[in-house]
Amino acid sequence: MKTVLITGGCGFIGSHLTLYLKKRGYRVIVIDNLSIGRKLLFRGNKFYKLDINNKKKLNSIFEKYNFEAVFHLAGLSKLTDSFKKKNSYKKNNITSTKILIDLVKRNNVKYFIFSSSASVYGKQKKFPIKENAKTSPISYYGKTKLICENIIKKNCSNNSLKAISLRYFNVIGSNFKNKLGEIHNPPIHLIPIFVKNILKDKPVKLRLNFNTKDKSGVRDYIDVGDIVKAHYFSLQKLKETKKSFYIINLGSKTFYSAKQILELIRKFLEIKKVRIVYSVKKKGEPDKLLASSQLASSFLKWKPKIKISESLKNMILWEKYKIKQKKLFYK
Ligand SMILES: NC(=O)c1ccc[n+]([C@@H]2O[C@H](COP(=O)([O-])OP(=O)(O)OC[C@H]3O[C@@H](n4cnc5c(N)ncnc54)[C@H](O)[C@@H]3O)[C@@H](O)[C@H]2O)c1
Repeated sequence: MKTVLITGGCGFIGSHLTLYLKKRGYRVIVIDNLSIGRKLLFRGNKFYKLDINNKKKLNSIFEKYNFEAVFHLAGLSKLTDSFKKKNSYKKNNITSTKILIDLVKRNNVKYFIFSSSASVYGKQKKFPIKENAKTSPISYYGKTKLICENIIKKNCSNNSLKAISLRYFNVIGSNFKNKLGEIHNPPIHLIPIFVKNILKDKPVKLRLNFNTKDKSGVRDYIDVGDIVKAHYFSLQKLKETKKSFYIINLGSKTFYSAKQILELIRKFLEIKKVRIVYSVKKKGEPDKLLASSQLASSFLKWKPKIKISESLKNMILWEKYKIKQKKLFYK
């Protein structure tokens, strides 16, 4: 049985990936410091509560297992926070990645898959955005992801380490059947914020000074179920290709404005009217993000399959469950 390591495996995407790889026959080792993640989302074979900045302890885990691959998802990801808490973002995103890559090489791990983000693109004029578009992040979070990509690239070579950096667009959804979903408290992403507020009978904040048709931000939403499959395909691909470093967008090619999303949620919840408080966009938010999925489709042979209606249905069930089981999730 092949063994893989997932960092951040008790978080939203990491927990879904853990379950998916386990079902595919991998022995999955998870490391998470639980700063955001929750142990109740752990679905792997062995869990270590550990900060990946702890090089000594991390190395002992590498020495214990003969990892075939490392999936690096751990990190901080709140846009606005990243400006205010630069040191923390530097430590949890950049320094930790340096440490991890160093140990990956020292312990002869062959494959590395990194969770990057569309935020490396910043403001773009041409859509859909291709991987070779000029990167110019407008948030410190985006900068940390770009720096990490460069660290990884520098450490790759054909006869040692091969890596893929996956630039996710807006990841949504929940595997409600297996009780997995987003756990940020308070929520940091648009849909969980909208759903939670509506369910709690609170007004929702709609930011309306984006340079788009209806003045709200436009995003490319992709379900977490499709995202985890792309990780699996990435690992299989790395084993058969020659180049040592790849960057691949993961988006759905379908995009919605925040206003449209709100309307979809309203209909799903069968509510007549949502109370809205109007606001302006936050620092670090681009007007529009829309992925070109050409490379993911031709290289990974991956195509997103899950419809936004399915994602929303599961997210609403998940938010309702979290509200009901409050004590399980929030200290
Ligand atoms: N969710 C999205 O839409 C999205 C989009 C683009 C990129 N990403 C990236 O994907 C990755 C996973 O995202 P997510 O939404 O699952 O986030 P998440 O916050 O739910 O999960 C991240 C996990 O990493 C853990 N962690 C943070 N710092 C750590 C450290 N120093 N040591 C050990 N564990 C640590 C947290 O406790 C958490 O469980 C992140 O790197 C994020 O930046 C996410």
